[in-house]
Amino acid sequence: MIKYTVFNKLFVMAAIFFGMHGSLYAASDAVAHGEYIIRITGCNDCHTPGYAEKGGNIPTSQWLTGSSIGFKGPWGVSYPANLRLLVQNLTEDQWVNFAKNLQARPPMPWFTMQMISESDLRATYQFVRSLGPAGVQSPNFVPPGGEIKTKYIDFVPTSARHWNGFSHITVK
Ligand code: HEC
Repeated sequence: MIKYTVFNKLFVMAAIFFGMHGSLYAASDAVAHGEYIIRITGCNDCHTPGYAEKGGNIPTSQWLTGSSIGFKGPWGVSYPANLRLLVQNLTEDQWVNFAKNLQARPPMPWFTMQMISESDLRATYQFVRSLGPAGVQSPNFVPPGGEIKTKYIDFVPTSARHWNGFSHITVK
């Protein structure tokens, strides 16, 4: 009878151990998958300072902190958001909802982001959250004609005649 109880306890402990191990393993799987998704969808090209310049050789600890170098075009000046800070204020469900409904100014490829599957989006959330908060908020968007206080990259169509606008942006 005593042996049986000890065996039972061991069994329960083993179940808890392997159960925990299983969920830890699943969580780290999602984090690794999220890193992969972020890497191949090019988010770092804009949201990680110096990423393109260093040929992508930037440690994940410095990823997605946003940029204070703006993208200037007929829409005004837009700044890649600090995603490390953004996800701190969102639950995983809110992130999925946000990503699926996001419409943003150029050159943010929001239409591509909307196509990322829900499970992939959940993995990106797990990954970015696992990195923790870092950096500062990116500067606010500057409307066309507004005062620009930062460096910026000029996106000038070669001829203004070729500018037909973006369907989701109203240029004032
Ligand atoms: C070509 C540059 C570029 C790429 C690539 C890019 N972004 Fe962006 N992103 C921006 C810019 C610029 C903004 C700000 C747009 C605005 O002002 O409306 C932005 C905005 C966002 C926002 C909205 C933030 C907010 O608070 O409203 C999210 C979320 C976001 N990006 C996520 C991503 C993810 C995830 C990827 C990769 C799948 C990605 N971006 C790829 C440039 C980029």
